[in-house]
Amino acid sequence: MARLSILFAPDVQLKRRALPVEQVDGEVRRLMDDMLETMHGANGIGLAAPQVGVLKRIIVVDVARPEESPQPWRMANPEIVWSSDDAVAGEEGCLSLPEQYAEVVRPSRVCVRYLDHQNEMRELEASGLLAKCIQHEIDHLDGVLFVDHLTSLKRGIILRKLAKQKRQMATV
Ligand code: NI
Repeated sequence: MARLSILFAPDVQLKRRALPVEQVDGEVRRLMDDMLETMHGANGIGLAAPQVGVLKRIIVVDVARPEESPQPWRMANPEIVWSSDDAVAGEEGCLSLPEQYAEVVRPSRVCVRYLDHQNEMRELEASGLLAKCIQHEIDHLDGVLFVDHLTSLKRGIILRKLAKQKRQMATV
């Protein structure tokens, strides 16, 4: 396994639509494992392939608390096939938008259909943090960041902060 480097916003690669995976083969499985290692190494709970510069519809999620044993999900071509009418607001962050958090409103429960790491089609009904995280990661596959759910005023403030951080990092 290997740690991959994570892209930080603003980055044009984070705004692109990712392509479906034809089948989950050894190469895709390796990428899923590398993404999980990268995510855990960054203390994240979810990561989408475009965040590591790979435009494929692949996400990994693990919302287990640090004291719990890992509960990793590996999903290719994830698709929301049902979402609840009731929505909840919750704070979100993103490994591509370091140290930025905001409240995002999303359906509280979803059913997601996906290919697992053995190329088997599966469905998962998720609620709570897992549902929120899966929706956030699937958004990445369509070039959507959590700040895109905010007002343009709030989004502008966060993106300007990130652009400034990036310039400072570049000059160090
Ligand atoms: Ni994210």
